[in-house]
Amino acid sequence: MLNITIINGPNLNLLGKREPGVYGSESFDDFLVQLKQQFPQVNFTYYQSNIEGELVDAIQQNGFNQDGIIINPAAYTHTSVAIGDAIAAIKVPVIEVHISNVHAREDFRKISHVSAKAVGSIVGLGLKGYALATEWLIQNTK
Ligand code: DQA
Repeated sequence: MLNITIINGPNLNLLGKREPGVYGSESFDDFLVQLKQQFPQVNFTYYQSNIEGELVDAIQQNGFNQDGIIINPAAYTHTSVAIGDAIAAIKVPVIEVHISNVHAREDFRKISHVSAKAVGSIVGLGLKGYALATEWLIQNTK
């Protein structure tokens, strides 16, 4: 079994209800059920927080004992040096995912403190980005 932790940042607990024109109408919980069905060979751990320091804790706690981390730090992507530093500090490969195309939105969303520390980034492909990141980890780890 491959162990993958998905970490979602602030406001992503409201997916499905939050700006559906930008982020879609599916909740993350419903999506996670499908993701687990799609990848039965993966043991997914899911963590979401609206609090920056809790996200740093989750990165540290999952950063040495998992096979990969898929992270969407949401708005903290654009502001958090601490989350970027936490990703640089750990051992496991991290893939950055954004549901929306951050490059096609406000200028402040074009800055990421995470991209340079991640193995790679998937942006603008909706929730499918998490599935694509999972595929990459399956093919490139272990
Ligand atoms: C987001 C993009 C961020 O700019 C925004 O603050 C989010 C979600 C995305 O998944 O598209 O909350 O990370």
